[in-house]
Amino acid sequence: MSVYFYLKMANKGSVKILGIVGSPRKRSNTEILVKKALEGTKWVATVDAEMVLLRNKNIQLCKGCYDICYFKKIRCPIHDDMEELLVKLLKADGYIFGTPTYFGGVSGLMRIFMDRTVPIFGKLKDKIAGIVSVGDGKFGGQELAAQSIRTFCLNHSMILAEWHVSGTAGKRGEILNDIDVLEKARKMGQNIARLAVILHSKMTP
Ligand SMILES: Cc1cc2nc3c(=O)[nH]c(=O)nc-3n(C[C@H](O)[C@H](O)[C@H](O)COP(=O)(O)O)c2cc1C
Repeated sequence: MSVYFYLKMANKGSVKILGIVGSPRKRSNTEILVKKALEGTKWVATVDAEMVLLRNKNIQLCKGCYDICYFKKIRCPIHDDMEELLVKLLKADGYIFGTPTYFGGVSGLMRIFMDRTVPIFGKLKDKIAGIVSVGDGKFGGQELAAQSIRTFCLNHSMILAEWHVSGTAGKRGEILNDIDVLEKARKMGQNIARLAVILHSKMTP
């Protein structure tokens, strides 16, 4: 079994944008911003948008058996919800990755998710990506959390649509008070969808 297992499962159709939310709490600020960005994608016709809440998924830690999934290109030996998520990643043309800021970095959930994408390394080239990060401090490290996702995206040779959108909010749902950041997220989603439609309609053989 090889990486082609995941590719075969990823039946391509219309332009798809996937939102990935890395907050472990319900009604999170990150979820609100990612949802807003996905609403923005709807401004572009023929776009399918879907949101994945990592907190609802069973994703185990990467065991680091790099020789199996990376060098030999054999399927990841861990059988959990990441199998389904790798297929979703391959199917999608663009992504909005969202994370809360935890100690100046991404959440553990987002970290685990990113590490488990090694089996499809090299297959996400030219997918369009956008990033949102939320922290309760004005300079709480949202930038660093976003940077961690940015390096993940660039490692995978994705195309970053624009600079990240970062919000300042602490309590659940508090981000709803910040109309500016909500609008920035919506616009980012719209831009990602626009670029995905342009690029992927041209690239389809
Ligand atoms: C473990 C932990 C670490 C945190 N570290 C930071 C931090 O370094 N900087 C910051 O601004 N906020 C920090 N926060 C606050 C969260 O980023 C903030 O509550 C944010 O709104 C959470 O987003 P969410 O609602 O999407 O989960 C931390 C919260 C937790 C639980």
